[in-house]
Amino acid sequence: MTLDELENKCKNCTACELCRERTNLVFGIGKKDADIMLIGEGPGEKEDLQGEPFVGRSGQLLDKFLASIDLSRDKNVYIANMVKCRPPKNRDPKPEEQDMCINWLRKQFKIINPKIVVCVGRISAQRLIDKDFKVTKQHGEFIDKNGTLFMGTYHPAAILRNPNNKELAFGDWLKVRDKIQELGIEI
Ligand code: URA
Repeated sequence: MTLDELENKCKNCTACELCRERTNLVFGIGKKDADIMLIGEGPGEKEDLQGEPFVGRSGQLLDKFLASIDLSRDKNVYIANMVKCRPPKNRDPKPEEQDMCINWLRKQFKIINPKIVVCVGRISAQRLIDKDFKVTKQHGEFIDKNGTLFMGTYHPAAILRNPNNKELAFGDWLKVRDKIQELGIEI
């Protein structure tokens, strides 16, 4: 199945109650066979309205980090979220909502087949790297999972709330750049 076919199927998903209030399902965006995949938490208000991940204030900051290391959703990365529909009032997606949604993400991951996955924020890092993942302690560390390198970093929304973390987050993105070079990934 192609990524477009998967997206078309996913758009009709009614597996959990988040589907009821969505304006748009937010499947993902970017290069369909990107070597670098980013996984956030879930759509916010702007994302729900536009049907694209990370288009609000957090997304602008994320795009700046990406641009600083020559990455962009238009060129060489793919961006998705743990859940495809907006949780009410931007609350954290519940574990059971993530359970219902994760097969879409697994299928996306298999088709895209990235070499590096960056978990953007605690929610995806706890689900995909370590259930007790602490961003403050483990950010910037690469973990090999079946041949794919996973790394967790600060969520841009957390940086907007506490700008002191910006330098640390920037350091994580520099590590991504170094890893891309180390692995000889052409971007
Ligand atoms: N925050 C996320 O985690 N994902 C988005 O798509 C937007 C904001």
